Amino acid sequence: MKVTVVGAGNVGATCADVLASREIANEIILLDIKEGFAEGKALDIWQTAPINLYDSRTIGSTNDYAMTKDSDVVVITSGLPRKPGMSRDDLIATNAGIVKTVTENVIKYSPNAIIVVVSNPLDVMTYCAYLNAKTDSKKVFGMAGVLDTARYRAFLATELNVSPKDIQAVLMGGHGDTMVPLPRYTTVAGIPVTELISEEKLNEIIERTKFGGGEIVKLLGTSAWYAPGAAAAQMVEAIVRDQKRIFPVCAWLTGEYGLKDIYLGVPVVLGKHGIERIIELDLNDAEKALLSESAEAVKSVMDVLDNMNATA
Ligand code: NAI
Ligand code: 2OP
Repeated sequence: MKVTVVGAGNVGATCADVLASREIANEIILLDIKEGFAEGKALDIWQTAPINLYDSRTIGSTNDYAMTKDSDVVVITSGLPRKPGMSRDDLIATNAGIVKTVTENVIKYSPNAIIVVVSNPLDVMTYCAYLNAKTDSKKVFGMAGVLDTARYRAFLATELNVSPKDIQAVLMGGHGDTMVPLPRYTTVAGIPVTELISEEKLNEIIERTKFGGGEIVKLLGTSAWYAPGAAAAQMVEAIVRDQKRIFPVCAWLTGEYGLKDIYLGVPVVLGKHGIERIIELDLNDAEKALLSESAEAVKSVMDVLDNMNATA
């Protein structure tokens, strides 16, 4: 299996490192626009192979898409972080330009690739990749829910003093403060979480999860990379090993949950064909209202991209 990771920055390099060290793919191409950057990161990762005892080969490339030819999966992490003075629309315009060019190049050399988008703003960048890939929506989707659910599960594990392995949860909606963690679908080794924690504490954890990305930005001055990189790699693993794992994924909806023509986080089955099935939960009225609020927020950002494309 061949996997390309575009963007050799913090998230991309971490993702490539996890893919290599866990032998998720035997060939990993790490590509970046910055001269020599991906080659340097790839060489460093490859030099961990004799220490960590694995065979997967990571190879770097400065913007040479011919090296990505026939990739089975491509992870797109290229993009700029929001800088002081930059509006949300400026960020969308800049990153959409990057994601568009990257997607066109990726598809040119790997027309059958499955594309996992990580660049922010996530839901709209996934939409941008879909518009430019001109491929089946089941093969273009975004990583956010695996990360957001991991944060929620990690906070719960700390609070309950139990293994994070035993915490299962579903989280839906956009990658932002309107995301919808679902306590009704959160269990600890099969026990409903509400039997183990007070409502007040659970609500605090839900609020912390919604702002989990911002918490790390405040501490580090830049956004997270260990968990995002590992989350993207876990999605790639589900695809290349055809695991049929159930993850919350930013997927194109065509009527599910009463929503259509929108990219939004929903639980899906991931396997070798990409999104093999979208799971429709029987949400109650309060959960539906939160999801619809989140969908509206995402749609308004997608509209910004549509308007930019219309006037381009
Ligand atoms: P970074 O700045 O460390 O890396 C981004 C890399 O993209 C840089 O090395 C840059 O040279 C490269 N790049 C820029 N334009 C390019 C192009 N046209 N072609 C190829 N490479 C190009 O940023 P980091 O921390 O790795 O984050 C990457 C993206 O992922 C950001 O947009 C960030 O907001 C997003 N992110 C998304 C998460 C999610 O849950 N979906 C979580 C964490 C980050
Ligand atoms: C995160 O959630 C910033 O999207 C990034 O860490």
